[in-house]
Amino acid sequence: MFQDTLGRRIGYLRLSLTKACSMRCTYCRPTWLEQPRGEPMLSPAEIEQLARHMVTNHGLYKVRLTGGDPTSRPELVEIIQRLASIDGITDLAMTTNGLTLPRMAKVYADAGLQRINLSLDTLDPERFARMTGVDGLNRVLKGLDAARSAGIAPIKINTVVLRGENDVDIPSMVRFAAANDVPIRFIELMPMGPLASAWADRYVPEAEMRAILAPIVRESEDLEQGHDAARCARVTLDDGSVAKVGFITPMSCNFCAQCNRMRIAADGAIYPCLMDEPRGSLFNAVRPVFNGRAVDAAIQQSLEHKQAEHPHDGFVTMTHIGG
Ligand code: GTP
Ligand code: 5AD
Ligand code: SF4
Repeated sequence: MFQDTLGRRIGYLRLSLTKACSMRCTYCRPTWLEQPRGEPMLSPAEIEQLARHMVTNHGLYKVRLTGGDPTSRPELVEIIQRLASIDGITDLAMTTNGLTLPRMAKVYADAGLQRINLSLDTLDPERFARMTGVDGLNRVLKGLDAARSAGIAPIKINTVVLRGENDVDIPSMVRFAAANDVPIRFIELMPMGPLASAWADRYVPEAEMRAILAPIVRESEDLEQGHDAARCARVTLDDGSVAKVGFITPMSCNFCAQCNRMRIAADGAIYPCLMDEPRGSLFNAVRPVFNGRAVDAAIQQSLEHKQAEHPHDGFVTMTHIGG
């Protein structure tokens, strides 16, 4: 297995398939950012070769498709099929904004996608439109149903919390999670992307999120964290319903010591950490012909740069590398 200089074993690959996204979340996408036309990208066949190589030689077991939004990559279904055909990948997941799910959830499931993490920041249609730039709450909620009907499980909700925007929605989101039996994870805003300079004003730390939720909580039992980015609890609400609630707290309490991830962007760039700069590229190691040794050397070299904790300020916008 690939290891970094601190002995962390890297078995989880986050693969960003495109910079494009059908939403414009205020905290994520600068208005100027597009997928550059004609930018060379790893092809579905190259992605499969790379993943096969990492499974066979380096113990890769988990792949998550991200973006931008991975559903904006035209060859997504083929990429899912190719990755699903690799025996050693026991966890094949995708993080998405959900807009394509009403139409495509079954197609993704049939192609072999096992899990989805769905970004959903509010249940208020107007706030949703303001935060994402798309009047699409209903479509995303229909998408959640479609994914569930297609047998995709678990589906986790990811909610980035912004002060003065959706912080008041935390209780209603947790009630929704309980009613629909979907885990929910609240994410602390990171100082990257368009709100980087307003970060201190908009960031809501975990302790404050918990305080906002407290009035509707009857009891809470902590669950084991493992490699999960979230610290989760089974929470019983005042009406007796139960939700699995997590907090992803990169700012107030980071989980870097347990990190088992590396990231590869659509153009082949290798990111040892989501807040670091790219440290090398796989492009020349897979094209024109796949060269396993060159792949290993490039990844190992990039991992030399993996720091004990993420840098405080993000180098890239999240939308390049999908969280
Ligand atoms: P599971 O496999 O279900 O545990 O998902 P995940 O948490 O690995 O992936 P997801 O894409 O749902 O990540 C949710 C959010 O957590 C991302 O959008 C980021 O905001 C944050 N996140 C994910 N990975 C990292 C990481 O390595 N470091 C930091 N600081 N934040 C991360
Ligand atoms: N802080 C925290 N999370 C972010 N995301 C995007 N930008 C940020 C940020 N500044 C995450 C969201 C979304 C995923 C694609 O990226 O969780 O679900
Ligand atoms: Fe797109 Fe996700 Fe960024 Fe929103 S947070 S703009 S859905 S990549």
